[in-house]
This record gives sequence, C-alpha cells and structure tokens, in this order.
Amino acid sequence: MIKAITGTKDILPPEIKKWKHLENIVQKVFTNFNYKEIRTPIFEDTSLFARGIGEQTDIVSKEMYSFLDRSETSITLKPEMTAGVVRAFIEHSLGQKQQLNKLFYISPMFRQERPQAGRLRQFHQFGGEALGSASPFLDAEMIQIAYMILKKLGLKDLSIRINSLGIPSSREIYKNILRDYLSDKKDRLSHDSKVRLEKNILRIFDSKIESDQEIMNDAPLLLDYLDEESSNDFEIVKELLSNSKIPYEIDPKLVRGLDYYTKTTFEIISGKVGAQSALCGGGRYDPLVEQLGGKPTAGVGFAAGIERILLACENENSFNSAGDKLDLYIVKIDKELTSTVYQIALSLRKQNISVDLDYLDRSVKAQMREANKLNSRFVLFVGGDEYKQGNITLKNMETGEQEILEFSNLDLVRNKFV
Ligand code: HAM
Repeated sequence: MIKAITGTKDILPPEIKKWKHLENIVQKVFTNFNYKEIRTPIFEDTSLFARGIGEQTDIVSKEMYSFLDRSETSITLKPEMTAGVVRAFIEHSLGQKQQLNKLFYISPMFRQERPQAGRLRQFHQFGGEALGSASPFLDAEMIQIAYMILKKLGLKDLSIRINSLGIPSSREIYKNILRDYLSDKKDRLSHDSKVRLEKNILRIFDSKIESDQEIMNDAPLLLDYLDEESSNDFEIVKELLSNSKIPYEIDPKLVRGLDYYTKTTFEIISGKVGAQSALCGGGRYDPLVEQLGGKPTAGVGFAAGIERILLACENENSFNSAGDKLDLYIVKIDKELTSTVYQIALSLRKQNISVDLDYLDRSVKAQMREANKLNSRFVLFVGGDEYKQGNITLKNMETGEQEILEFSNLDLVRNKFV
C-alpha cells in the first residue's frame, strides 16, 4: 500500500472544523489591523531562499526540498514565506503603489526536518509582513496580532520572548567580541558549535548541548552592545507592549534561525507542546528587500506554525471552551425594549462582534439558558430599574464578574472584545 510521505499529514473532515476556526480568527484579526492577503507560488527559484534566508542557515544548508525540473532549473518548495513575499513585493513594484504594504498569508511550507510531535515536513504557517516603514510601532503591532490570535484560540500557557539583534554594523562589532570570548574555549565546544563559530556564530546560543550552554551562559550579550537607534526602538517596543498589557520577557539569547533579522526579534512559546515549543517567531528585516534586488525598504513580520498551535489547543483543551463561541448574548428584561436591544446588537455586530438576542419574547431565565447553550462569553442585561437610571449590566460568563456600565457608552462593551 502506498502511504503518505513521512512528515506529511492528511487533514480529515473532523479536524477541518478546527482549521477553519483558526483560519477565520486569523483572517478576522489581520483584517481588523488592515492587512491584505497575499498568495505566492508553492515553489520558487532556489537562489531566492539561498540569498534571502542565508546560505549558512539550517533551513538552506540542510532542510530545503530542492530539485532540478525538466528544464534543469533549480526549484525549491518554499520553506517560509518572507522571501517569497519580498520577491513579489519587488516584482510588482508594490512599494511604488503604496508606501506601506501590510500583508498576511496562510500557506503550506516544506522543510526536510526530522519529524516529531509539532514538527512536520509539510506544515502550514500563517503570518504577516509589513513592508515600507521602520516604525517600532509595527514591531509591537506584529507581536500584538500574533498574541491576539493565540488568545482568541483560547491558549493560556504562552510566553512572549523579545530581543534586539541591532543593525548589521553593530552586530558585526559584537560578533568579533563574541569570537574573542570563545577563542580560548573553542576546544570545549561541540562539533556543531565549532562549525557555527566559523559560519554563523550567533547560532551557538541555540545549542541544546549542556557543555555549550555552560560556555554561552557567561558570553557577552548582543543587547549590551546595541547601537543607539536599535536600543531606542527596542525601548519603544517594550513600552508599547507594557501599555497594551502584553506580558513579555527579554531573552538576550534569542537569535532566530534565519539570517535576515535586524533589531527586534520575538518568539511566542507554549508550555504545552513539548520540545517544539515555538508557536511563532518573527522580527524586523530592514536590509532584506535591498538584498533581494529592490529599493531599500524596511520590513517586519512573523509566522506561526498552525499544526503546533492546534496541538497546543488540544493539549490545553482550549477547543472545548473556544469552539463555537458567541461574543455576546443580550438578555432583554422588558419586552418593550425589543427595538433598543435590536439596535445595540446591530451596532456591535457592525464592529465585528458576534451578538445574538432573543426573538421569541422568552423569560429572563430562558434567555440565560440560551446564552449558556450558545457558549456566550458575555451577557448584557438590558432593562429594569437599572436601565431607567441609564445603566446596563455586563456579565463575564467565564469569570462570573459583573460590571454596571452607562448605556450611552457602548464603547465600554465593545472594548471587552478588542
Ligand atoms: P520560523 O521561526 O522558521 O520563521 O518559523 C515560524 C514558525 O513556523 C515556527 O515558530 C513554528 O511554529 C513553525 N514551524 C517551523 N518549522 C516547522 C516544522 N518543520 N513543522 C511544524 N511547524 C514548523 C519563519 O518562517 C519566518 N519566515 C518568520 C518571519 C516572517 N519573520 C519575519 N517575517
């Protein structure tokens, strides 16, 4: 019997529901931030990835599905999206049509890695790329989008790690400092790290070998040698994340596996998926467009692994709570408020919040039963003496907390869903 190729997976009908749920959230969140979808070919000229991702990276040196087609052209199945998006951006002069291009994608990717839980050879990513601005607000926006999507999927056990890799010139200075530090410890490094010392020195920080890690524990850190611009931008990113109440940790050893990064880099890690714990990763890549033949254009983005995220959802049991959820059910206490309640629902629905209400003049008790059945995250009570005083009550069905809000300020309700 012919079987599916090792490291590939069929997605059967019962699982499709979860994929669609995730894809809907991805579409919705990116659209709310005004990102436009882009689709690029499954395969590209091999040199695009070699030049874009870096010859010495694991992806290019060991993991790409590259082959000669019938006309002897070297083709590669895309191992990631950023290089392809940048190629399309240059080829179609997108930067001339619009100064800032905010793009997102959902697509299969291919890497010949050793398969294990959360690691496949054909896997799927969603992600975003913003091309045309060096503003650190976009770095924070990327982290915000990724985090928002994961939270909307009901994931809780998440940690965000951020770092700055600086601009290439300051990084070169730092690499020499690191080389000096390692010069008398070289013999104690593992074989792979010795190779990295010559070819891709920062990646020694990624070594899983204990003796390497011991050496790297005392190594000088790039964050301490940042140029002023990267350092200022990093401060802004941190401040923006703190202001939006996004929890993060600074991880000065986060170097990422692709060569194109500059300044901010980040990963979101799940505590529930074992060894392959990075659900998503990304950062700024300001030199990449020029490196691939375009005009200098700053860029920032991230990509997230869908199979890994679904595994985390499974392990956190988040589908039961995040399955088919309604954002808000409005319980109407007085029958004569039907039209008011209808208008409230309409205005919230226009703002992309899923809302339902009673159309059958049922009792308050029956409406509450319906809200529970629909798995509503919040219930809004409209009516009674409270309404006469200009107020409504919002109940969080997950925590049981209730809040009395002014009826005239529906934004307070809307803000719960941002
Ligand atoms: P990456 O860290 O190589 O970054 O991949 C992003 C995510 O894809 C990982 O965090 C992981 O969840 C998932 N992933 C990677 N390899 C596999 C695999 N073999 N099996 C399952 N999932 C996997 C990039 O790809 C960059 N293009 C991200 C980016 C976009 N940076 C800037 N813009």
